[in-house]
Amino acid sequence: MMIEQGAMKAGPGLAMLHSIPMFAGVPDAQLEAIARVTQHRKAPRHAAIVRAGDHTDSLYVIVSGSAKVLNSDADGREVIITLLGPGEFFGEMGLIDGSPRSADVVANEPCELLVIGKADFKRCLADNFDLCLNIMKSLVQRLREADRKIESLALMDVYGRVAKLLLEYSQLENGVRVVRRKLTKQDMAKMIGASREMVSRVMKDLEGSGYIRVEDGRILLNDD
Ligand code: CMP
Repeated sequence: MMIEQGAMKAGPGLAMLHSIPMFAGVPDAQLEAIARVTQHRKAPRHAAIVRAGDHTDSLYVIVSGSAKVLNSDADGREVIITLLGPGEFFGEMGLIDGSPRSADVVANEPCELLVIGKADFKRCLADNFDLCLNIMKSLVQRLREADRKIESLALMDVYGRVAKLLLEYSQLENGVRVVRRKLTKQDMAKMIGASREMVSRVMKDLEGSGYIRVEDGRILLNDD
C-alpha cells in the first residue's frame, strides 16, 4: 500500500518547522521559504512510503507517528534497520548521492509527514549551512548506530542484543527508563537477527529476573 496522493495537505506552519531538529538554527526567513515548498501528507499504518530500488524524488520528515526502515530478501525475510519517530527524516541518501532508494520505509503507525521535493531540498541545502550541518550530524549519528549494531551482531549473544536494543530505544520518564517506540517481539527479532521465539524467551527471562516489567503494554527497564 503506497501513501495516497489525495491525503496531501497544504504546507506546514513555522511553529511546526521550528520543532524539527533538522531545522535547528535555520533563520525564520529561510524556514518560510522551506515552508512554501513543503507538502504535508498522511500515511496509514503499514503504508509503504518509499520502496527499496525506487527512483528518488523527495525527502520526508516525520511529524507524528513512526516508521520502520527495512530490507527484505527474495524469500520475503526482513531485517529492520531502524525505527524512526517524530522529528526524524528519511529519503536523504538517494537525494544526496543520486542512487535508488536503499531500503523500504513503512509506516509503523499512522504517520503525518512533511515532504520536500529533490530540487527544492538541494536548493535549501545550498542556502542553509545550518541545515547541511544538522543533516551531516544525523548521518554521523546513524553511522555510529550502525557501527554499534555490527559490533553487537558480531560479539553479543541474543540476551545481550535484546538488552542493548531495549536500552537504545528507551528514555528517562520521571526517573524510569521506558521504551518509547512501539516494539513487537517480531520487530525486535527482525532488528537483532534472532527468531521471534528466542526474543520471547529472553523477554520472559528478563521479566522473571526483574530486569524489565511490562505496564499498559509499555516496557519499563529496572535500574539494578
Ligand atoms: P533512501 O536511500 O533515499 O531511502 C531509504 C531511506 O532509509 C534512506 O534514504 C535513509 O533515509 C533511510 N535509512 C537507510 N539506512 C538507514 C539507517 N541505517 N539509519 C537510519 N535511516 C536509514
